[in-house]
Amino acid sequence: MKVVNTKEELNEQLTEWRHEGDHIALVPTMGNLHAGHISLIELARENAERVVVSIFVNPTQFGEDEDFEQYPRTLEKDTRRLKTISADLIFVPSIETIYPFGLEYATTVSVPRITENLCGKSRPGHFDGVTSVVARLFGIVRPDVAVFGQKDYQQQLAIRHMALDLNLPIKIISGETVRDDDGLALSSRNQYLDDDERAKAPLLYETLSEVGDGLQSGARNFAELETESADKLAAAGFAVDYFAIRRAQNLEIPNRDCDELVILVAAKLGNARLIDNIVVTI
Ligand code: PAF
Repeated sequence: MKVVNTKEELNEQLTEWRHEGDHIALVPTMGNLHAGHISLIELARENAERVVVSIFVNPTQFGEDEDFEQYPRTLEKDTRRLKTISADLIFVPSIETIYPFGLEYATTVSVPRITENLCGKSRPGHFDGVTSVVARLFGIVRPDVAVFGQKDYQQQLAIRHMALDLNLPIKIISGETVRDDDGLALSSRNQYLDDDERAKAPLLYETLSEVGDGLQSGARNFAELETESADKLAAAGFAVDYFAIRRAQNLEIPNRDCDELVILVAAKLGNARLIDNIVVTI
């Protein structure tokens, strides 16, 4: 498995693989890899002969008071881990490679509506940062397939929309959320939790699952379910950003007849901003 930093080295390898007729899958990451990322890489492997994992902590998707500086950078450990699994190449670009004209001159790709609410509301500019860096990675790697985690539901929906809307010839695949035994969705930010917070954190998934069961049994008082769930989490010590029931397809507010729903939550526990969701098909 190769580790490359420049577009030239990357292109050399990609050209060779394409000549052999191989398809390329890209798994974009910010590193600090955990079992959730590994499952995305395995999914990528099922969908293409060659798997490229990119590692780039993208500054433009972090707000001014967010954890860009603190974000765990564990390149050596990540590389060691990737050598033991089915990745073919790790692309670790510099900021100049990703933003060749500097951040001031950087083109922004913005997906309206889908990114305006939920995390988009509390993290202004975040999704513009995500879709713009993913568009850049797509331009550099030109993958046939790209894989994203379902845990970042709004993110994968925005990227899927961007690819469709811009006619990018890339198949977007979503990988299921990987959870610890107690239900907590794996995330690099879980390591900001202290022991007490870690013990409370599974309540997020527990609450999502209860509401999911309620919806399956016919509950349709969405606003009440949202308020009750947010109150329950707040009483347990979470600073709840939102608890929302939305249309799975586009995150719009559903009506009673909608049969593809997603329940999403974002809440802070200590220094960790945690997000999770479940899709409910009635
Ligand atoms: O989900 C992430 O890790 C990031 O948002 C992504 C998709 C790698 C873009 O920086």
